[in-house]
Amino acid sequence: MPRSYLARGLKFIADDVLRKQGRNYSTGGCRRLEGKVALITGGASGIGKTTAHEFIKHGAQVIIADMDSQIGPQAAKELGPAAHFVQCDVTAEAQVEKAVMIAMADYGKLDIMYNNAGVAGPSFPPSIADLDLNEFDKVMQVNVRGTVAGIKHAARAMIPAGSGCILCTCSISGLIGGAGSHSYSASKSTIPGVVKSVASELCRNGIRINCISPGPIPTPLSLAQIGLIYPRATQEQLVEIVNGLGQLEGAKCEEADVAEAALYLASDEAKYVTGHNLVVDGGFTCFKNLPFPSPHEIL
Ligand SMILES: NC(=O)c1ccc[n+]([C@@H]2O[C@H](COP(=O)([O-])OP(=O)(O)OC[C@H]3O[C@@H](n4cnc5c(N)ncnc54)[C@H](O)[C@@H]3O)[C@@H](O)[C@H]2O)c1
Repeated sequence: MPRSYLARGLKFIADDVLRKQGRNYSTGGCRRLEGKVALITGGASGIGKTTAHEFIKHGAQVIIADMDSQIGPQAAKELGPAAHFVQCDVTAEAQVEKAVMIAMADYGKLDIMYNNAGVAGPSFPPSIADLDLNEFDKVMQVNVRGTVAGIKHAARAMIPAGSGCILCTCSISGLIGGAGSHSYSASKSTIPGVVKSVASELCRNGIRINCISPGPIPTPLSLAQIGLIYPRATQEQLVEIVNGLGQLEGAKCEEADVAEAALYLASDEAKYVTGHNLVVDGGFTCFKNLPFPSPHEIL
């Protein structure tokens, strides 16, 4: 029998076995979150909104919990009938609790909680010697306290169910120094630690928790920051600057890359992944080239 027939035959048998086991590894066309209920904080814009779109595309109902009462309802309208807006400031625990309760009341469950709302805080003054601790507290309130509040109230809904998936948006600023302000870096460095700590408890309840660390993406958050450094630059120039910060030739970090990572972590394909920090940065944080002088300078 020619080799190609043999290979095709073996593939057919393997696919049939996987189908009978109820597993589908060709994830291309199927809806990977069919019937799931997801809540996304900061879901009115940027990464959160794109992730809401991706989750809906894969069959989920999505509650967008965002403090912005203007763009929030607009985003929900754009995303269609599977999206619902709830006004929620993650720094107010009662509002986070209420958003989770709305999910429970409307759908009877919460499968996915994505703690994504975040702020950059002021980049200036850049020196630790001049750090305004009130500004530091504000960044920590949203990025850390807001995330922990989301985890807490998601856990209350998920523990009785004995299943669930919690996601958090971290950042490359949580992995290395110098990629954000001190306040932002400190807040994002905390997230992988919180994730590991909570994973150690919630694994006993069948609940997974992971975070995602994106590289720079031109969203309103990053563009506002970069705009402070280049006040005369146009929007297009700012987008180009942010896109030029990566290292991977021929690609740039986009909201959709984070949404795809979130989809993977939220889906059954990641059923054995917990306590993980999925870095989506085109390799930015995994290497540093040695600064050799050019041979022309030496010879
Ligand atoms: N854009 C980047 O380069 C980048 C890189 C790494 C990580 N991140 C992180 O991604 C997350 C999403 O940011 P983005 O880039 O999509 O920005 P974005 O500005 O497009 O979206 C942030 C959303 O969070 C909401 N928000 C802010 N404070 C809130 C609060 N207290 N309560 C509820 N909602 C609140 C905003 O209203 C907004 O809709 C943030 O945690 C950010 O730190 C962004």
